Amino acid sequence: MPDTVKLFNKVAEHYDALNTFFSLGMDRLWRKRLSDQIRGAGRVLDIATGTGEVAIETVRNLKGCRVVGADPSARMLELAGKKISATGNSGRITLARCGAEHLPFKDGAFDAVTIAFGIRNTADPSKSLSEMNRVLRPGGRVGIMEFAIPRNKFFAPVYLFYFRNFLPFIGSLFGTGTEYKYLSESTSAFPQRESFIKLMADAGFRTGKPIELMMGIVIIYTGAKQMSSTDTAHQL
Ligand SMILES: C[S@@+](CC[C@H](N)C(=O)[O-])C[C@H]1O[C@@H](n2cnc3c(N)ncnc32)[C@H](O)[C@@H]1O
Repeated sequence: MPDTVKLFNKVAEHYDALNTFFSLGMDRLWRKRLSDQIRGAGRVLDIATGTGEVAIETVRNLKGCRVVGADPSARMLELAGKKISATGNSGRITLARCGAEHLPFKDGAFDAVTIAFGIRNTADPSKSLSEMNRVLRPGGRVGIMEFAIPRNKFFAPVYLFYFRNFLPFIGSLFGTGTEYKYLSESTSAFPQRESFIKLMADAGFRTGKPIELMMGIVIIYTGAKQMSSTDTAHQL
């Protein structure tokens, strides 16, 4: 696995434009769908926030919530900071420099946690899921969006060709071919669907039905932190 922080520091400059190009402009809708899954949350943590797209979409979509955007890449956070102030969201979004494996937040500090296209980049996805669970209050919701390989036997080969060849080629025109090759290789190798849901359950989440977007090239996994019997008694 490459040093993903270095990798994202390098792709940061063209990151938003290439995302919109490769997703045919659908990325904004995907992020809105993700924030729809945590409706009602007041305190939100967006991990692997990158240039802040999910954090900004979340404050647009969810009235009154506040978001902490966390990411280990200094360059991505710098761009996020500029975008957050340009969109007038500095009062509702704060940024923190940290990786998903060690979150510098108290137990139960958030009502919801999101992470888009980030869990695959962490050194230890299981540890990251446990950390997400720890910082959530009991019953708090999690939304995890990640790329996947579609299952449709006609669409899958076409998509794989696009993903393994076209994407790195276009990336190379911006000096980031190797990085986009990493995207396709890491997606193929990462646990998907049932395997990923099992990782979430092992980390202490009650999992929901995953939402497949664009014929399964993107999946939103949802869940909630299991409540202990003491938590349930306090609610009664
Ligand atoms: C593909 S970008 C996703 C950015 C954003 N969530 C979005 O939807 O556009 C992946 C992000 O994961 C971050 N990242 C890399 N290693 C990480 C880690 N160990 N923990 C959390 N985030 C990490 C990168 O710095 C990068 O900003």
